[in-house]
Amino acid sequence: MTTPETDDGSSIVPQPVAQPLTRAAIFLVVAINAGASSRGVVRSLCADLPALLRAVGFRDIEANLSCVMGFGSDAWDKLFGSPRPAGLHPFREIQAGPRHAVSTPGDLLFHIRAKRMDLCFELAMQIMTRLGDAVSPVDEVQGFRYFDDRDLLGFVDGTENPSGQVAVDAVLVGPEDAAFAGSSYVIVQKYLHDLTAWNALSTEAQEHIVGRTKLSDIELDDSIKPTSAHNALTTIVEDGKEIKILRDNMPFGRAAEGEFGTYFIGYARSPRTIEQMLVNMFVGRPPGNYDRLLDFSRAVTGNLFFVPSLTFLENVGDDESAAAAAPAAESIAAPARTEMPVRDGSLNIGSLKGDPSHE
Ligand code: HEM
Repeated sequence: MTTPETDDGSSIVPQPVAQPLTRAAIFLVVAINAGASSRGVVRSLCADLPALLRAVGFRDIEANLSCVMGFGSDAWDKLFGSPRPAGLHPFREIQAGPRHAVSTPGDLLFHIRAKRMDLCFELAMQIMTRLGDAVSPVDEVQGFRYFDDRDLLGFVDGTENPSGQVAVDAVLVGPEDAAFAGSSYVIVQKYLHDLTAWNALSTEAQEHIVGRTKLSDIELDDSIKPTSAHNALTTIVEDGKEIKILRDNMPFGRAAEGEFGTYFIGYARSPRTIEQMLVNMFVGRPPGNYDRLLDFSRAVTGNLFFVPSLTFLENVGDDESAAAAAPAAESIAAPARTEMPVRDGSLNIGSLKGDPSHE
């Protein structure tokens, strides 16, 4: 297995983006408070996150605790300045009739996954304790797996996700932005569903909206699948090749409040792919032929974050003046192909940097 390398020969370790689906997740978005001391606290967490993860994850190593840390466009400029990742910008909102992909605040994303919610919660608590008043909370969602990996609309969600090397190639930046090889982009949106209206539809009508059968989760034949089906509008083909993304959506909700949601999270090596899917869904392909899921689902948040490699995070120093130099981003050699370490039941947190056999 080859991993991209820095000039000094050590390998670049990505964050654990391409993880298998887990039973539990916390999606934590915070804003960085003003002032150099707040930025200092965030910077020092970057390098220490693997140690925190090790400490919490070791309490049940079978539970596969992992954490991905992402940075919004403004946060990147404040924390690291130049060079900046080629595809990083604020989330682009889309308004098309009553459909609105909103853009909402948020500087940092922590995507925490494990088989057990208590581990996710403990890590979230430890992260927030470290960050203290350097940040303000923006949004926190606890997601759970629902029956056979279904969303609250009742459909299996995640079937067409890529796996193995295809997933790695889909999510990790390669030679196209060599300074940031091994990084990724992630778009998150919190959707709320009108379940009463959705459940009033016949199963057949629902299946035509999603593009798959509900019980057996089989893709509808092209002869009956509408061009507005969700899985049709989110299929992106460029130069005859399908461009994949990696999703780890999670249901969430509060039954007593009537809140039923899907937390959409999509990783990709370029935000362009997910942005195109969003345009297809909200505006339509062609315009007007939009995703009918949106007649029953409303996006209440929307953010784009950059996910630098773990190697980058580990090299962030506390000193702001050394910000640009520390990550050694410019010294990273362009890899022909970026491979993700395969999980082996360990924490996969990069504690043994430079030794791919341990990742
Ligand atoms: C209301 C929120 C959403 C729900 C409930 C939802 C649900 C689903 C379901 C049930 C499937 C079919 C099974 C599968 O392959 O996973 C699917 C497929 C997919 N969704 Fe979503 N989704 C949502 C939002 C999004 C968004 C915002 C995007 C991208 C911007 C997206 C991208 C995709 C992609 C790429 C596929 C696979 C298409 C294929 O290759 O067949 N989804 N989604």
